Amino acid sequence: MFGGKSCILRGGSVSLALVILIFLMLTLLVSEENPLRSSLFDVQLQFSASPPPSPPPSSSSSVCNYAKGKWVKDKKRPLYSGSECKQWLSSMWACRVMGRPDFSFEGYRWQPQGCNMPQFDRFTFLTRMQNKTIAFIGDSLGRQQFQSLMCMATGGEDSPEVQNVGWEYGLVKPKGALRPDGWAYRFPTTNTTILYYWSASLSDLVPMKNTDPPRLTAMHLDRPPAFMRKYLHRFDVLVLNTGHHWNRGKIEGNHWVMHVNGTQVQGEFLKDISHAKVFTIRSVAKWLDAQLPLHPRLRAFFRTISPRHFRNGDWNTGGNCNNTVPLSRGSEINGDDGSVDATVESAVNGTRIKILDITALSELRDEAHISGSKLKPRKPKKVKSNVTSTAPVINDCLHWCLPGVPDTWNELFIAQI
Ligand SMILES: *[C@@H]1O[C@H](CO)[C@@H](O)[C@H](O)[C@H]1NC(C)=O
Ligand SMILES: *[C@@H]1O[C@H](CO)[C@@H](O)[C@H](O)[C@H]1NC(C)=O
Ligand SMILES: *[C@@H]1O[C@H](CO)[C@@H](O)[C@H](O)[C@H]1NC(C)=O
Ligand SMILES: *[C@@H]1O[C@H](CO)[C@@H](O)[C@H](O)[C@H]1NC(C)=O
Ligand SMILES: *[C@@H]1O[C@H](CO)[C@@H](O)[C@H](O)[C@H]1NC(C)=O
Ligand SMILES: *[C@@H]1O[C@H](CO)[C@@H](O)[C@H](O)[C@H]1NC(C)=O
Repeated sequence: MFGGKSCILRGGSVSLALVILIFLMLTLLVSEENPLRSSLFDVQLQFSASPPPSPPPSSSSSVCNYAKGKWVKDKKRPLYSGSECKQWLSSMWACRVMGRPDFSFEGYRWQPQGCNMPQFDRFTFLTRMQNKTIAFIGDSLGRQQFQSLMCMATGGEDSPEVQNVGWEYGLVKPKGALRPDGWAYRFPTTNTTILYYWSASLSDLVPMKNTDPPRLTAMHLDRPPAFMRKYLHRFDVLVLNTGHHWNRGKIEGNHWVMHVNGTQVQGEFLKDISHAKVFTIRSVAKWLDAQLPLHPRLRAFFRTISPRHFRNGDWNTGGNCNNTVPLSRGSEINGDDGSVDATVESAVNGTRIKILDITALSELRDEAHISGSKLKPRKPKKVKSNVTSTAPVINDCLHWCLPGVPDTWNELFIAQI
């Protein structure tokens, strides 16, 4: 995992290098959403670099598909300030805090083709969500969507009245842990609860007993996370996602051992990780669909995969996403073809679960990732003056700057609730 440090430390004295390395380790290496943890074995989706071919202009199709449409410039963007929404936004995702110099990526909204999507208004949204609980369950990209929604719902303003109700869902930081498994907040004026639970694989994780090596975790591919089974009856809206943890590096790094039918998977069938991913996504969708009739008020969404934009390999092979010009990959998605994420699309096909199809529209936004934002020292006065020029550049071409693309995912999601 540390093999890449020589690539990211450039120049500077040995002590400076140490300070930077420690800072990095503390703030990034231990965090699961860290791109540094991505392995060379990451399964990369095979996206075509160019948008799908345009069909002849369709005769005013009346059916609205939110995944089709175009990015348009909008002076009213962003919906909140990336430097002010400190209460909810992780600083590593707040590109204005991280010292990114260009912000043109903040000034766009998605205009779905043939859909009347009302302008997002936080008061209207909260009123609509009166007495309701919105739950995000998924990986760090799900956490980005959660943080985005918190910033959207508060307008990014300090909101001391919003209550931390994590304890109601067992979301408290265990002793010695870096952070809790999730967060839950309630807006008292409308009694609206928004929560996030970290489940990178959407499978049930159960520590195994007396294993060699120790601390292995059974990953039950055919069983949804215990949290989801336990609290489903309290949710009114649920948004699931998974995808980027389905690679050998992450699975081995987390000491996950795949299980199906309660026993360790032996056969070759699930040894292929992309196969295991498809199997799990189908399992969780099937389970959730069977639950929906028992929970008539629950609306369930499965969000499609968020695209990565590493060029020339991964971060540790020098890959980056250094384009800063918006929409250089085109601005429109049209045509009658389905989602780029065929796995999620087919898993929810024929179920009551709705697809939240954000893949193709996000694919056009390679300039809106964290990219090579320079890490700003936390306490600039205590650090030598040249640190900014020698600060390591982390090329995160997976996560998005906030405000940014995940705000659009939320707008599409809110329009479809
Ligand atoms: C808040 O909403 C929950 C769930 O709908 C409901 O059970 C509870 O009574 C509400 N509380 C208040 C104070 O309105
Ligand atoms: C919210 O819940 C409270 C308490 O249960 C109830 O009095 C109120 O009518 C509910 N409001 C809506 C819009 O459901
Ligand atoms: C799990 O059990 C089901 C039903 O008995 C069976 O069809 C399936 O092949 C089993 N899967 C694995 C991977 O053992
Ligand atoms: C962007 O990255 C590519 C590939 O690593 C590199 O050749 C190019 O010079 C970079 N451009 C800028 C503006 O940094
Ligand atoms: C959805 O299911 C129907 C019926 O089984 C099938 O005809 C259709 O091709 C499926 N669509 C997708 C996108 O998988
Ligand atoms: C800072 O950088 C400048 C220009 O590269 C150099 O002349 C100076 O010695 C550096 N200062 C320190 C403290 O490293």
